[in-house]
Amino acid sequence: MEQLLNVKVNIPVKEASCYDILIGTNLLEKADEIIKKYTKADKFLVVTDKNTAKLYKNNLNIKNAHWLVLEAGEEYKNINTLKTILDAAVEHRLERSDCIIAFGGGVIGDMAGFAAASYMRGCDFIQIPTTLLAQVDSSVGGKVAINHEHGKNLIGAFYQPKLVLADITTLKTLDIRQLKTGLCEVLKYAFIEKTCNAPLNYRLFDFLKQHKEEIFDLNPAVVSQLINICCSLKASVVNQDETEKGIRAILNLGHTFAHAIESLTNYTVYTHGEAVALGMKMAFKMSLQRGFIEKHYFELANELLDEYDIVPDFAGYDREKLYPEMALDKKARNGKLRFVLPNGFGSVTVANDVTEAQVLESVDIN
Ligand SMILES: NC(=O)c1ccc[n+]([C@@H]2O[C@H](COP(=O)([O-])OP(=O)(O)OC[C@H]3O[C@@H](n4cnc5c(N)ncnc54)[C@H](O)[C@@H]3O)[C@@H](O)[C@H]2O)c1
Ligand SMILES: [Zn+2]
Repeated sequence: MEQLLNVKVNIPVKEASCYDILIGTNLLEKADEIIKKYTKADKFLVVTDKNTAKLYKNNLNIKNAHWLVLEAGEEYKNINTLKTILDAAVEHRLERSDCIIAFGGGVIGDMAGFAAASYMRGCDFIQIPTTLLAQVDSSVGGKVAINHEHGKNLIGAFYQPKLVLADITTLKTLDIRQLKTGLCEVLKYAFIEKTCNAPLNYRLFDFLKQHKEEIFDLNPAVVSQLINICCSLKASVVNQDETEKGIRAILNLGHTFAHAIESLTNYTVYTHGEAVALGMKMAFKMSLQRGFIEKHYFELANELLDEYDIVPDFAGYDREKLYPEMALDKKARNGKLRFVLPNGFGSVTVANDVTEAQVLESVDIN
């Protein structure tokens, strides 16, 4: 099944920022044929990691491709690996009209995307995401980055791909923890759907209630529809605000907590999705305490989080350290401490008046 989505990230002043997201099964095998419609590149540099290469190198059919297989993991999302990618582009004499392809999870997508943004001031770029997180989130919207030793994603750019090719067949090899990590961001879209202001009403919350079994079983029809909905919601937000000057911040529901949790635990205890799930639970608690939402919606949201079993245990951590960590991060980024908080069914608002006491109360979740 191949489904061409009419999801186009259309940033009015920049024609090139309009692109398709193709979602379907067995797309890797057809990649060569599909990609030709989106780039005039003569040469391709496929950037991937060892795990993805081992599983799918033989499936991805792209002619004239040079392969660069990197170590897997967030710890390699740094300037040294970026250099390795750029060196490969130079070595293979890629030209500006040639194409870098990111084939893997969000780490590969972010790094290869940043390499594409900077190589010759921007060569063609295509995303072939292979994790659920990458298919519903990181491959869409054009944020590309590497980490700095003093902060995650500190060095980056906004750079849109020519095409996103999401082959859902690849999700079969994700372990349950990785699958759930993607599902955390999926549930996030259900909690922000109304505020995304999308042209269609997807009722993602109900969809998730109805199709849990099929989602965990990776039923192709259901999963492709799910990814379609998430990408459409994200595209709608990005359309309104490509560079996060306003509404795009709502995609960070749970993330102010999550970033502090990840940083306090040295990125070794929780996956990003797990930290976001914890953060969303905390955001709901904060909203309830501030009277932004009714008890009924609070319970519905928690029920959904429980049904998907995505919120890890947060016992034993020093909650007192979370607020200072957030403040530090705020200072480092020279920004405001902003919380995206639910304020109604499927809707959120951004608050920047949160006190330390409110944070302390809301992080007490289990
Ligand atoms: N740019 C954005 O807007 C954005 C949004 C969210 C997250 N991110 C970034 O995404 C990254 C996380 O992405 P991720 O969760 O995909 O992590 P990841 O890229 O590290 O992938 C997770 C693991 O799964 C392996 N893998 C990839 N595809 C697989 C498959 N089909 N089957 C089995 N294993 C597979 C990878 O080798 C890796 O070991 C973070 O660096 C985060 O900052 C970016
Ligand atoms: Zn996230």
